[in-house]
Amino acid sequence: MQTLTSVAAVRERVHAWRAAGERVALVPTMGNLHAGHRSLLAAAHAHAARVIASVFVNPLQFGPSEDFTRYPRTPEQDERLLAEAGCDLRFAPSAAEIYPEGDQATRVHVRGLSETLCGQFRPGHFEGVATVVAKLLIIVGPDVALFGEKDYQQLLIIRRMAADLALPVEIVGAPVVRAADGLALSSRNQYLSPAERARAPAIYRALRAAAAAIESGTTDYAALERTGTLALTQADMRVDYFAVRDAADLAEPRPSSTRLAVLAAAWLGRARLIDNVRAKPPLRGDGGAPVAD
Ligand code: PAJ
Repeated sequence: MQTLTSVAAVRERVHAWRAAGERVALVPTMGNLHAGHRSLLAAAHAHAARVIASVFVNPLQFGPSEDFTRYPRTPEQDERLLAEAGCDLRFAPSAAEIYPEGDQATRVHVRGLSETLCGQFRPGHFEGVATVVAKLLIIVGPDVALFGEKDYQQLLIIRRMAADLALPVEIVGAPVVRAADGLALSSRNQYLSPAERARAPAIYRALRAAAAAIESGTTDYAALERTGTLALTQADMRVDYFAVRDAADLAEPRPSSTRLAVLAAAWLGRARLIDNVRAKPPLRGDGGAPVAD
């Protein structure tokens, strides 16, 4: 596996691959790679002959009081994992390479989707994400780019951004990879003490309980949100939100919603955990009776 740090060198390499008729996949990351990232790399291989991973801790998506400086950086470990995963190229640019103008003037903002849920608690975060992902997609020019459903709102924002800007790339979502006890893998889980780590699976349990209630016909979503919030509070978490939304656009559920998402974000000690599950409400209006023919 090769590592490149300059925009020009990556463009040249991708150009050569495409000239040889090879499809190219991009997996954007902030490094500190784990099995969640590995699953994206594996999925990427199913879509393209060449797989590129970008490793860039994007300053633009961290708020002034957030963890940019202490975000875990493990370049040697990442390089090993990427090589083992059969990644062809690691793109590891400096901040100056991505943002030559510093706090650059041009930003990409996906309206609406960026303001809800995590957007309410992390102002500017999704603008930072959309800006860097747009730049990475324009720099690399992949046929396909892969993102985890763990960051479900991020995935929807990137899909919207790519569609609105007519970027010629397919955006593929991949399922959440979890620890055996259900906790979604995340670089930020390292901030948990052993006692906190033991309580952390409460978030997935509460999401699953809400999804099960939805699938068995509950439509009192406000009550589910209260129950979920209470369960997380009882596990000593400080809840940012526990929300039932339409899975397509994160709007409040409508009678026509065929797929819902239950999403939560909560602080446990120094770690902000996010997770989500999807749920299909039973079809309404036909009373569930089989249709006679
Ligand atoms: P990062 O947190 O490093 O995640 C990189 C990719 O891995 C994202 O698409 C994320 O959703 C996915 N991922 C992380 N944990 C996962 C898990 N447990 N299961 C499945 N997928 C998982 O997300 C970012 O970086 C950044 O915001 C980025 C998109 C790179 C822009 O800077």
